[in-house]
Amino acid sequence: MCGIVGYIGPQQAAGLLTEGLARLEHRGYDSAGVAVLGSRLQVVKKAGRVRDLVDALPKRFAGKVGIGHTRWATHGPANDTNAHPHLSAGGRVAVVHNGIVDNAASLRERLTEAGVELVSDTDTEVFAHLIEASTAESLEAKVVDALAQVEGTWGLAVVHADFPDRMVVARNGSPLIVGVGDGEMYVASDLAAVVRHTTTVAHLDDGELATVTATGFTTFRQDLTTTTTTAREVDVDPSAYEYGELADEPRMFTEILEQPSSVERALRGRLDERFGTAHLGGLNLDPRELRAIRRVKILGCGSAYYVGQMGAGLIEELARIPADAEAASEFRYRNPIIEPDTLYVAVSQSGETIDTLLAVQEIKRKGGRVLGVVNVVGSAIARAVDGGIYLHAGPEIAVASTKALTNMYVAFSLLALQLGRVRDLSIADGKRLIAGLQALPAQIEEIVKGEAHIEEVATRLAQAESMFFVGRVRGYPVAREGAQKLKEISYRHAEAYQTSELKHGPLALISESVPTVAIVPQDELTDRNVAALHEISARRGPLVVVTHPDVDLGELDALRVDVPKNEVELDPILMTIPLQLIAFHAAKALGHDVDKPRNLAKSVTVE
Ligand code: F6R
Repeated sequence: MCGIVGYIGPQQAAGLLTEGLARLEHRGYDSAGVAVLGSRLQVVKKAGRVRDLVDALPKRFAGKVGIGHTRWATHGPANDTNAHPHLSAGGRVAVVHNGIVDNAASLRERLTEAGVELVSDTDTEVFAHLIEASTAESLEAKVVDALAQVEGTWGLAVVHADFPDRMVVARNGSPLIVGVGDGEMYVASDLAAVVRHTTTVAHLDDGELATVTATGFTTFRQDLTTTTTTAREVDVDPSAYEYGELADEPRMFTEILEQPSSVERALRGRLDERFGTAHLGGLNLDPRELRAIRRVKILGCGSAYYVGQMGAGLIEELARIPADAEAASEFRYRNPIIEPDTLYVAVSQSGETIDTLLAVQEIKRKGGRVLGVVNVVGSAIARAVDGGIYLHAGPEIAVASTKALTNMYVAFSLLALQLGRVRDLSIADGKRLIAGLQALPAQIEEIVKGEAHIEEVATRLAQAESMFFVGRVRGYPVAREGAQKLKEISYRHAEAYQTSELKHGPLALISESVPTVAIVPQDELTDRNVAALHEISARRGPLVVVTHPDVDLGELDALRVDVPKNEVELDPILMTIPLQLIAFHAAKALGHDVDKPRNLAKSVTVE
């Protein structure tokens, strides 16, 4: 949420900054700005997209040190003034900030009483004034002075006209990395901004700061004592951030298409066909510890929570361990009981979602053991947990998550398999599931090939203002995820329900203008599901049925989307693929910017 980029080195900064911002735009896209420090400190910032900022840059905008920001508004509306960077009253300090200043109101009041004129509605602006007002000698000490007065969270980058040879950056609850180039240095909130220039990166810890010059960086704490954070080569393929001939397609679409190969990556080296099990080295749990687990609690937000529900179902079914999923955003506010023999699992694509991170911290504070199911290597959640499973989905840029969710499901399948095989799951069942997992890439490919039909279905659905997504047991979280995806990017109202619950209330809403998308796998509940569809049809509710080829819908008047049959435990993930395409094509038919839905941003790093 919000993106930060910074550069210091021999090149002109502006172009590098705006290029970095364009690569971070998924983190916030209501305004953008850059500050460069040359013979003087200059700032240009604009409401709108990075391309509007580029158009607004003056011809003379020279400087080899600079910082940039792309914003998702928290305090104050999206306009030019509230965009970052923020300047101090004397114009000598510029700051960009991700996070929230909790005591902004009292700091603003104090600054106003001291005669400082605040020009924006933001909480960030106080940093610039506090740094300028500090009487400390070094820039490092001035920033530390300011931070000592601030309560809240920050990823912060600062340039100061009196210290043109450096930037100072700080992290507390909002990601910040330092990228080491060849005679030049970068800072960013996200690897995507710098990966074209360097993959040698240092991740700052919470409470840590860094001084970055053209030739290197040093890290320190808020008491100015030095720390030993070093830069490491990160295991990413920079070409994964380039899109070749698909460059002009929406990222969501390329990410949907990529799923056969991203699923293969998630499975690679983790299946043991001989013993019908999975090997997840990163769990850091031996078979005895795996057998001692009495309960599994999965925590995530939004779509990650829904996949967590699917995962909990799988774990109960395969390992026969009681398992459930809960919204991480609610978890710590109900003073949860943390049990020593419960395995807690935090699931997150970004590894930065603050609600999930805070849930992890709460569990650890109370002595619980937490695993991470995370995509971004080295992210805050990945570093906070006791062990985990990386998703290997590659960079996910579109705000609406697709390939990362699919890989979350694969990761939960592997976890369920490994837990199951040290308990009651038979070797035959283990082998059956392995064969099912191996079949997924080709089956996803087959679903994507049927895209033209799904586009037709989506275009029809897009006409409805409101609709239901329904499913039962394994199919219910699939319905939740389908409704979420559609809401997120098409702005149509979509409500998920258990099919079995329809007649306990919502059936009253069914009419010819309220369609239902029903998840009807070929399983032990098919007949019950089909019966419920008849009840909808009898009330003239239009139906879209995501189902398997052998399911007989009889005389039902329904648009049908068939997905290939896999093992019953793995069917849910295949059923989400057409729902991704339905959301994508509905949003496209309605003319929306699919990758940058209104009001949202990738990675929610504020509470
Ligand atoms: C939906 C979506 C969000 C995220 C949620 C958690 O398409 O992207 O609901 O799933 O914000 O994000 P992560 O997985 O990064 O923790």
